[in-house]
Amino acid sequence: MLNKGVTLWFTGLSGSGKTTIARAIERRLKASGCRVEILDGDIVRTNLSKGLTFSKEDRDINIRRVGFVANLLSRNGVIVMVAAISPYREIRDEVRSMTENFMEVYVNAPLEVCESRDVKGLYAKARAGTIKGFTGIDDPYEEPLDADVTCYTALESVEESAAKVVAQMESLGLVPVVQSVNGRQ
Ligand code: ADX
Repeated sequence: MLNKGVTLWFTGLSGSGKTTIARAIERRLKASGCRVEILDGDIVRTNLSKGLTFSKEDRDINIRRVGFVANLLSRNGVIVMVAAISPYREIRDEVRSMTENFMEVYVNAPLEVCESRDVKGLYAKARAGTIKGFTGIDDPYEEPLDADVTCYTALESVEESAAKVVAQMESLGLVPVVQSVNGRQ
């Protein structure tokens, strides 16, 4: 059975684990023959959204562009995973309303945890004032009120979070039930 197209929209703070979980899901789904694409904020901002700032207006433009591409791909049978902070609820809801199969995944980790991870060293810069308008520090993040799945990455392993998302996709009939070699998911 082929997978249906769907957009999985990962929203959460920088360093919450959006890309890591998306990559783990990608491995699982590709292994079972699904067509998968990832639109990652950091990469999108080097091409499709190159030159955009992190003002609310530019973040909204970024999200609309990514949503547009995700919709094109997902309506043609691709499982698209978007990993973008997408801090504003209204624009996330706008994208949801224009996308046929859409799942919102809230990648939830406390700011202190994201900040202690500081994978890219950007929180330190934001605290030092070198970067202005950094999400969670001096720019807002609006939590989803009704996410389809919430991953608590300070409490769950990457594989546990990935399994939750895949299980939800399976229960919605978006992918065939995936069994890994050892029978666990
Ligand atoms: S979004 O707000 O428009 O959705 P996006 O996910 O594309 O953001 O890009 C976020 C990434 O840009 C972060 O993971 C981080 O690496 C980098 N970044 C640089 N400046 C900022 C900032 N002011 N706020 C948040 N992220 C920033």
